[in-house]
Amino acid sequence: MTILQLKIEPFGLTVDINEWLSLLTAVQETGVSLAAVCGGVGVCQDGKVRCVSGELSEIQPVEREAFTEAELVEGWRLACQVYARSDLHIEIPMESLATSQRLQVKGDQREVQLEPAVHAEDFELKPPDRNDLRADWLRFTAGIGYEMTAPSPAVVDQFSSKMRDFDWSGRGCRARTYRRWGFWKGGSIFMGWRGT
Ligand code: FES
Repeated sequence: MTILQLKIEPFGLTVDINEWLSLLTAVQETGVSLAAVCGGVGVCQDGKVRCVSGELSEIQPVEREAFTEAELVEGWRLACQVYARSDLHIEIPMESLATSQRLQVKGDQREVQLEPAVHAEDFELKPPDRNDLRADWLRFTAGIGYEMTAPSPAVVDQFSSKMRDFDWSGRGCRARTYRRWGFWKGGSIFMGWRGT
């Protein structure tokens, strides 16, 4: 008994198979639902696979009915009619899979608009000067570009001294749901926030 290696795409599976098993049986034993309505007797023309590399047993008359000459040259075969003669690499098209497995492979790709509960953004604040004597917090909120609900007193209390420590720049964090604001030094790791 010779053990050969079979690589199955698009599943990225590589398994050992016995050379005397038909490719249909070998694939199905891996759990891949290769369609075979007639049970492998060569009637339904299900279970089409394409051999990417490796040697296969002779092309059978039923396969010449199922495929054009060009398709046979490309490596298309009926898995139920084929035996491996070397290590193999095959591709299984969607239409050769049972419906449930087709969905697993194909997936359902949709555009998803992300709505994170917490937003973090870098900001820079112009240091106060004689032409702008507003409070630091007011100058900050005027520059962020959206309406802000009242932050916790703990945040406002620390803002001015922290901005001086941080050299007037930092990273702000706001929670969409809880409407809270926090800030910390740019480049440092945010560990959480305090607020009411
Ligand atoms: S399973 Fe029906 S022809 Fe191959």
